Amino acid sequence: MAEAYGKVILVGEHAVVYGVPAVAMGIGRGAKARVSPGRANGVSFTVSDSSGVWDIEPGSELAVAFERVSCAFGPLRNKVVEASLEVPVRAGLGSSACLGVAIVRALMEDAGRSDAEELMARAMLWEQVFHGSPSGIDVAVAISGGCIRYEKGVGAQDLALAKPVPICVGDTGVRSSTREMVDLVRGRLLDMSDRGQRHLQRIEDCVSVAQAALPDGDWLTLGEAMNRNQRVLDELGAGHPRATEMLAIAAEAGAIGGKITGSGGGGCVIALAPDCEIAVLEAWRSRGYSGFAVASTG
Ligand code: PMV
Repeated sequence: MAEAYGKVILVGEHAVVYGVPAVAMGIGRGAKARVSPGRANGVSFTVSDSSGVWDIEPGSELAVAFERVSCAFGPLRNKVVEASLEVPVRAGLGSSACLGVAIVRALMEDAGRSDAEELMARAMLWEQVFHGSPSGIDVAVAISGGCIRYEKGVGAQDLALAKPVPICVGDTGVRSSTREMVDLVRGRLLDMSDRGQRHLQRIEDCVSVAQAALPDGDWLTLGEAMNRNQRVLDELGAGHPRATEMLAIAAEAGAIGGKITGSGGGGCVIALAPDCEIAVLEAWRSRGYSGFAVASTG
């Protein structure tokens, strides 16, 4: 069974598209895939999640993405490719990237191939179907798990952590399209001209601070950087009233930092909650929001 990690972005989403570094962390939920012999003449491809097996329409993004990555393995005959997803889609947890990485890994294992560059390149081909021109951060962390600093054109660097980052993930219940959110933020940045550049610089500062704070587990400094990053993301239009509400609830319950994860416009939020994970999850639950504590993959 091939596996890949879902993710949260601790700092730097959106700005990472323009070459600013970002820090992401794999979470203990993601995707799994396997290739097995089948009786069909061609290939049978299925994806399931907690709601059951999905209908994959011919010509849909999923069908196109599968065609794109599987054609590199010759005509697949008598094969069954089964994938399952453990994170919600369109929620900022890197669902498309981890699904793509798990499927490409399974196809490569079946073909006796294990080249890391091939895995990254093919998973990016998959991800482009869903997101147009992704930075690559989701694919990189889906492959490696752990905590990484990622820079477009440079790649991923592992960040060694002294202790797991105490993150709670909360779901606003609102779903958004990464492609549309990236376009919206791009439009805002263009409208702002010089001020847009300054916003990217502010995010870069947050990333530098967070990167320095993470290895020693300096949660207060990391939390402040996350809060500052969120203020910029709100100004860039990536926030959502439900995300703002969830972050306020988390702060009341003791969280020392919080922000959206991923493209925003709803999706999931993350709260840095040392020694108060249960209090944060309970507070969200009592207000009708679901969440979970991250099992760090570092
Ligand atoms: O919302 P997600 O999980 O697809 O994350 C997207 C992260 C962005 O920085 C907004 C886009 C990208 O390609 O890096």
